Amino acid sequence: MNSVVNLTLAKNSQVGNIAFIDLKAQQRRIRPAIEKRLQSVLDHGRYIAGPEIDELEEKLAGRTEAKTVIACASGTAALIIPLLARGIGPGDAVFAPAFTYNATANAILLAGATPIFVDIDPATFNMDPADLERRIASVKNEGRLHPSAVIPVDLFGSPADYREISKIAEREGLFLLSDGAQSFGAELDGKPVGNLAPATATSFFPGKGLGAYGDAGAIFSQNTLDRERWSSIRWHGTDEARKDSVRVGFNGRMDSFQAAVLLEKLSIFDDELTARRNIAAEYDKRLSKIARPQADIDGSVSGQGYYSLCMENRDDIVKKLNRAGVPTAIYYSTPLHLMPAFADYAPANGLPVTEKVASEIFALPMHPYLTPQQVDYICEAVCEAVR
Ligand SMILES: Cc1ncc(COP(=O)(O)O)c(C=O)c1O
Repeated sequence: MNSVVNLTLAKNSQVGNIAFIDLKAQQRRIRPAIEKRLQSVLDHGRYIAGPEIDELEEKLAGRTEAKTVIACASGTAALIIPLLARGIGPGDAVFAPAFTYNATANAILLAGATPIFVDIDPATFNMDPADLERRIASVKNEGRLHPSAVIPVDLFGSPADYREISKIAEREGLFLLSDGAQSFGAELDGKPVGNLAPATATSFFPGKGLGAYGDAGAIFSQNTLDRERWSSIRWHGTDEARKDSVRVGFNGRMDSFQAAVLLEKLSIFDDELTARRNIAAEYDKRLSKIARPQADIDGSVSGQGYYSLCMENRDDIVKKLNRAGVPTAIYYSTPLHLMPAFADYAPANGLPVTEKVASEIFALPMHPYLTPQQVDYICEAVCEAVR
């Protein structure tokens, strides 16, 4: 028997269809400029390593205060390259949350290392530094693996607690690699993502805050010396002449068409980020009394890749919202340690906070082209769904 009651809320004509993410509206805004950029790639014909790659790396470095930026094939490549460059592999323990997209753990395992899953903070949904300390102590105690790296994830765009995690990483000699796949544009203590950790990986998957028209990613470093090794690994491990293999690598390159699209999208990114943040502020204002939206740590501003909130009767609420024409998504209903591919790495006592949040979380539509009428309708729909 279905116990879900439909909402009585009526959509007026100004609300129209609500998209969870609206890439079409964005494309309408900049299509002529994108076509011009793509045309220019067709004209010069350097589909790999075209001038757009250098231009993009330069602009991204300016935007993120990174000392060097490597454009690459995907967010996954952006995670794997720094791990390989550090020589992280078999026998190494790499600490990461299980409340993230599978790519975070895949990168660790593809490098040959072992993921050690860390629980999250119940308010920020990001890595809990106190649990990180506990897991490091227990790996050291067991003595089987060498604690080597930590990969905090800036979930949904909200920076992880780099203040605490950096201190722990420094004390324990861990390589700190930020998974900023969802947080391009976010800030902590006035510093942008790309400058919050020694190395940061981001994704330009089409649905991300800054998205390509295909797969793409980038790695940001605070050390210019990373450039040579990272760019060699992204180009099959070759030397600067792209001839001899000097290390093991793979095809981790971004193509010129994706860089061309990203350059155009970067030019409207700040404007879009402001719109995302205004929408999130309105959601927070209207919904935080009846739900638990993700909290940002003090001194941080989210990149607002997604807008997620927790409600105890999540499944009922989501059904009601969907019937009322409000699309939703659940990131992530199954944490990684409960998935078959990563079950061997599940901590003995599970991850209690992660599991609870996974059972209550869902995401509301978030994109810069939501109209005030749509945001109002979504908020009303959530309020009515709990009545
Ligand atoms: C947290 C996180 N890490 C890594 C990735 C991997 O990025 P890509 O799909 O570009 O390889 C994603 C992509 O969704 C992600 O959300």
